[in-house]
Amino acid sequence: MTTAGDDAEFRDVDAVVHPDDLDVEASLRPRSLDEFIGQPRVREQLELVLEGARRRGDPPDHILLSGPPGLGKTSLAMIVAQEMGAAIRLTSGPALERAGDLAAMLSNLVPGDVLFIDEIHRTARPAEEMLYLAMEDFRVDVVVGKGPGATSIPLDVAPFTLVGATTRAGSLTGPLRDRFGFTAHMEFYDDGELQQVLRRAAGILGIDLRPDGAEEIAGRCRGTPRVANRLLRRVRDFAEVRADGVIRRDIARAALAVYDVDELGLDRLDRAVLGALVRSFHGGPVGISTLAVAVGEDQGTVEEVCEPYLVRAGMLARTPRGRVATPLAWSHLGLTAPADAPAGHRIEPLF
Ligand SMILES: Nc1ncnc2c1ncn2[C@@H]1O[C@H](COP(=O)(O)OP(=O)(O)OP(=O)(O)O)[C@@H](O)[C@H]1O
Ligand SMILES: [Mg+2]
Repeated sequence: MTTAGDDAEFRDVDAVVHPDDLDVEASLRPRSLDEFIGQPRVREQLELVLEGARRRGDPPDHILLSGPPGLGKTSLAMIVAQEMGAAIRLTSGPALERAGDLAAMLSNLVPGDVLFIDEIHRTARPAEEMLYLAMEDFRVDVVVGKGPGATSIPLDVAPFTLVGATTRAGSLTGPLRDRFGFTAHMEFYDDGELQQVLRRAAGILGIDLRPDGAEEIAGRCRGTPRVANRLLRRVRDFAEVRADGVIRRDIARAALAVYDVDELGLDRLDRAVLGALVRSFHGGPVGISTLAVAVGEDQGTVEEVCEPYLVRAGMLARTPRGRVATPLAWSHLGLTAPADAPAGHRIEPLF
């Protein structure tokens, strides 16, 4: 889990978890595979992996969950443990700085436990190497002492299931990736699935969400349940303070206008980037650093926070000469694209 930094300005449409999401997310997490909405392929595959293991009486194969933030990786890891009737131990790649940290966790496991390592691609190399042996042979070699006097003591580890989560499957090393028996690739959610996520959350939080309200919010969630749940809370505040608390289409629309989230889920910063690209640079190409200066943001924010979604939505293209606005970007801003504007590659499924 990547957490938005303390000094970051929090954006309602950010897929990365905010500190004030944490409590409510715990209450909204689906608790079983049946409650888990969407991801039909992953759910079906996982059901088979778990049922097979249950019949054999073994812990399931190690499982890697890969996909962008906020799509349900942590929720699925907890569901794996729940479905197997097992306990889950939680840690993360950055917390496993020394091999000893991992050895301590592994030696405390009891048979059948699920060990969840979030952001597994950030595990330091010595811990990662210890993990290879643990995953393969349920064994670790603990090195005691230093230099020529150092000895290695083999330790047995209880048979366990490792569930790793990563937002960057590409930065996992080959040997680690190969030791997972099953990899689940999480996809963005479509509109209908996001409406289900919203209805379920509304039920749990006691919010009166009407179908047209759910429809209106779903289109603006960037394919991400975490964003759906956050926008629902923002709209609820508006509905309770300015109206009778019921969320219908007009209320959702008015609320999201106040929070500056438009019909495609773009916020003020996304639109500023597109606006600068189109108005100040005639659609580009322009370098990312120049673009960042034009909107008064640092380059990292524009590159990591705005750009991925603008590219995915088919509004911005990365070219060797710089960033370019697509016709969709022009039309989204109510402008007409010049004849030579490049086509964007909209990556499906988006909504
Ligand atoms: N399939 C789903 N059905 C219902 N709610 C979901 C689903 N997936 C995610 N959510 C909701 O979205 C929130 C975020 O999900 P989760 O924490 O599992 O995402 P993640 O992929 O682990 O994100 P990160 O990469 O930031 O760790 C959960 O609290 C849950 O409320
Ligand atoms: Mg997570």
